[in-house]
Amino acid sequence: MYTIIDGKATSASLREEIKNTVNERKASGKRVPGLAVIIVGEDPASQVYVRNKHKACEEVGFLSRIYRLPTETQENELVALVQELNRDDAIDGILVQLPLPKHLDDKAVIAHIDPAKDVDAFHTFNVGKIMLGEPGFAPCTPAGIMELLKAYDISPAGKECVVIGRSNIVGKPMAMLLLHANGTVTVAHSRTQNLSEVTRRADILVVAIGKAKFVTADMVKDGAVVIDVGMNRDNAGKLCGDVDFESVAPKCSFITPVPGGVGPMTITMLLKNTLFSAEN
Ligand code: GUN
Repeated sequence: MYTIIDGKATSASLREEIKNTVNERKASGKRVPGLAVIIVGEDPASQVYVRNKHKACEEVGFLSRIYRLPTETQENELVALVQELNRDDAIDGILVQLPLPKHLDDKAVIAHIDPAKDVDAFHTFNVGKIMLGEPGFAPCTPAGIMELLKAYDISPAGKECVVIGRSNIVGKPMAMLLLHANGTVTVAHSRTQNLSEVTRRADILVVAIGKAKFVTADMVKDGAVVIDVGMNRDNAGKLCGDVDFESVAPKCSFITPVPGGVGPMTITMLLKNTLFSAEN
């Protein structure tokens, strides 16, 4: 038998804690945490993500400001807005929704975010702190996964942990957090040879490659913990992960579903980072 890791429930209880802290702040005369989200252009998936972030902020009592800029926005205009928000005392967190339109360089823009307001933890300074294991902003998706493992009493210490995917947003920081938690970590990617051999070693398998139902039962060890970061549509247009849940789940001890696994945790970690910023 396998246990489904319930990201919705775990997320709801963490959001309740955040909401309580916001209320305590209000009661003691402190201002509410503020998050500014900048979205450039009309990417439909980004529109949904930004709406969800706004809703989550309102739910816990944060100030939420959304800045919608047209596709043709120039880098200097975007940077000017970031700099204005850096100086804005009502704003604790600044998030530039990615991907940006092709003519804009996301690295150049992120470099202008005050590292103390970089709630995505994408700025070079914060990436360095993650690498060193210093306290600070947590990378949202990997940190959400660590919270899920904690909620289900799954310790990475001494375990074989395999991360598929080496993105700056998920794969690389995930590997770091698992390493800091004393896991034995392997990062696999599109050039990895004999991928199934590598993934079958995993006690904890984190999959973040963006390919629908890519991980099949033959790639998973009996009793493994499988964490699915994917968010894809299958041939029927139904939301699915990077893991073929139907075939893989029976081999697992724990598995995250899509939707309702990692997804809800990511925004919760963003809220946590914004609160952390306000408190510090
Ligand atoms: N686009 C997809 N995921 C993310 C994220 O975590 N942060 C930002 N800023 N953009 C994204």
